[in-house]
Amino acid sequence: MTPDEIKQLIRTVPDFPKPGIQFRDITTLIGHGPGLAATVEHLSQRAADTGAEAVAGMEARGFIFGAAVSVRLGLPFIPVRKPGKLPIETIGVDYALEYGTDRLEMDPAAVSDGQRVVVVDDLIATGGTAEAAVKLIRSAGALVEDALFVIDLPDLGGSELLRGSKVNVSSLLEFA
Ligand code: PRP
Ligand code: ADE
Repeated sequence: MTPDEIKQLIRTVPDFPKPGIQFRDITTLIGHGPGLAATVEHLSQRAADTGAEAVAGMEARGFIFGAAVSVRLGLPFIPVRKPGKLPIETIGVDYALEYGTDRLEMDPAAVSDGQRVVVVDDLIATGGTAEAAVKLIRSAGALVEDALFVIDLPDLGGSELLRGSKVNVSSLLEFA
């Protein structure tokens, strides 16, 4: 299945979670077996091309694709979590979303010094989430040079923001 065919499996819901937001819903994509498999395959090929030694995914939707890529490539998975979820002392970063604010946390011992980590998420909008994840993983000592997304919303500038932080950004499809 091509990225264009995968795009047809994404449902657009207007005015969620706030008026004016066109919500690009992956529920319909992950509910389609061949579509999910093809998406994971495309992401995994791109992740393998980066030479990644580990995959990081952001809670919650990033866990779906990030963990699948980890399993496909036999690489460790690093969960980047919403606040208050991890039972140990964490490091954290606050960030702004298209529709609010949030915080990401991780176990600083989840990565090793200089380990090559690729970030995987379902979607990049403003880039706030991905930028926070990159900062967090870098502050734990790992190397983050690549980030992969199923969906890019280029009008929101997130991929440009991330490229400004010296991250190579690759997305399977765009909604402009
Ligand atoms: C969504 C999405 C990305 C982020 C993108 O997650 O899964 O992580 O927003 O937006 P940004 O580029 O403007 O930061 P959300 O925080 O809604 O959480 P969820 O994965 O728990 O649904
Ligand atoms: N996360 C941030 N913006 C989003 C959007 N427009 N659709 C789905 N997830 C999002």
